[in-house]
Amino acid sequence: MRQAACVAGAWAASGALPAVAGEPTPHPRSLLVDVKGNPVLARLLKVGEPYLFNYPFVASPVFLLALDREVRGAELVTESKRHYAAPAGVGPSKSIVAYSAICSHKLMYPTTALSFIGVRKGVAREPAQVIHCCGDDSRYDPAQGARVLAGPAPQPLAAVLLEWDAKSDQLHAVGTQGGEMFDAFFEKYAFRLEMELGRRARAVCDATTVVRPALAYSRQWQTCPA
Ligand code: FES
Repeated sequence: MRQAACVAGAWAASGALPAVAGEPTPHPRSLLVDVKGNPVLARLLKVGEPYLFNYPFVASPVFLLALDREVRGAELVTESKRHYAAPAGVGPSKSIVAYSAICSHKLMYPTTALSFIGVRKGVAREPAQVIHCCGDDSRYDPAQGARVLAGPAPQPLAAVLLEWDAKSDQLHAVGTQGGEMFDAFFEKYAFRLEMELGRRARAVCDATTVVRPALAYSRQWQTCPA
């Protein structure tokens, strides 16, 4: 399997592992690092600030969030009725989670230029933060496995499995869980990805993947009604 450095805006090629919703899908283990290549330390993530990294492919964006409380695992179900256990939070407060940033409705995702899907304040009885896709107003709960709160999204965002080393405080991405949509993503955006990345459009991440604050990942974050 060919691997490539996972840096936003950099990409490469390879096949995908089959996605089975009920079981975790292992992917190559990638250490989360900052733009200088230094490991991202869990305790230094700002609570409530969204970050992005790419995983398991260099083209597939992932939200990384440190929430303000412990995140427990959640029993969820995919569009195809496969049940699975969304992972609990990791880190010193068991509050760090990661989810694919590819909307499960029509696959909108953050590009380096623009994003219609982002982390925003919840409204009414929603949790404090939601992942909101402006495309058709789908809203997901990051504190419960990114389950769908509202909108036409047919299933939760796929979870990205994180491992936290208590001694070093470092984080690794090691796999995914839930309804992966990578095949549909690469099919839908084949032309765009080909133009941007050439033949490397489907490479998997290598030993590291770069984490950026969301505001530094996309140049423009589309505002949309709450
Ligand atoms: S693409 Fe996200 S709600 Fe339609």
